[in-house]
Amino acid sequence: MSRRTPLISGNWKMHHNHFEAIQVTQKLHYRLGDHDYDGVGVSIHPPFTDLRSVQTVIGADRMKIALGAQNCHAEEKGAFTGEVSAPMLAKLEVALVIVGHSERRQLFGETDDMVNAKVKAVLASAMTPIMCCGETLEEREAGDAEAKVASQVRGGLAGVAADSVANMVIAYEPIWAIGTGRTATSEDAQAMCAAVRSVVSEVAGTAAADCVRIQYGGSVKPGNIAELMSQADIDGALVGGASLDPDDFASICAYRS
Ligand code: PGA
Repeated sequence: MSRRTPLISGNWKMHHNHFEAIQVTQKLHYRLGDHDYDGVGVSIHPPFTDLRSVQTVIGADRMKIALGAQNCHAEEKGAFTGEVSAPMLAKLEVALVIVGHSERRQLFGETDDMVNAKVKAVLASAMTPIMCCGETLEEREAGDAEAKVASQVRGGLAGVAADSVANMVIAYEPIWAIGTGRTATSEDAQAMCAAVRSVVSEVAGTAAADCVRIQYGGSVKPGNIAELMSQADIDGALVGGASLDPDDFASICAYRS
């Protein structure tokens, strides 16, 4: 068995206000038994406006669900209207922050350099970055998927210490599989996650590559999670649409039962 503890993360994107967030978190907690967390981490990533409410219910009921955010700014503070910093998230007991999601790259112009700065900011606040990478359909069809993902991983990890890389999470999410209902085959997902691991080995050494957790993301559902998780280099999943429903997300988290 792998020494890497799998992590299943729910990226809610811009869904659920703070009232809905409390209900969804409580339902998820009731659906998951203690044994579901044995050797598997579960995180949820609500919108910023929900974080304080969700932190409070997680704390009050001593839930084993980790709190995550979807983004942050690279600077600690300053004149950045509308932005939220990593130290602000850390104060809310946020443990994990998604960085460089393809929607942020495509819709908000995030570059590898910006992603790299955010990775460093998240680490500096003692949180875990979930750094996303993934190719477009055109890049896949042109045979450029591995090269694209390799350059995103190299750019995102530039100047990050090997022991920090070891504790990070990298999410491989082919853009053509996100929200489309079209999942990568488990063989393709495995091949790409293995490719990501070999880039990590090149930039941070084999020990870091052995420890770094690599998630697959893109139309993960209760029906395909077990097959994906059976692959050697897939250490978890970043789940969008199916994480909004606590029943579906609980079944995904309980993929071993
Ligand atoms: P999806 O989204 O599960 O709805 O495809 C995944 C993601 O964007 O992280």
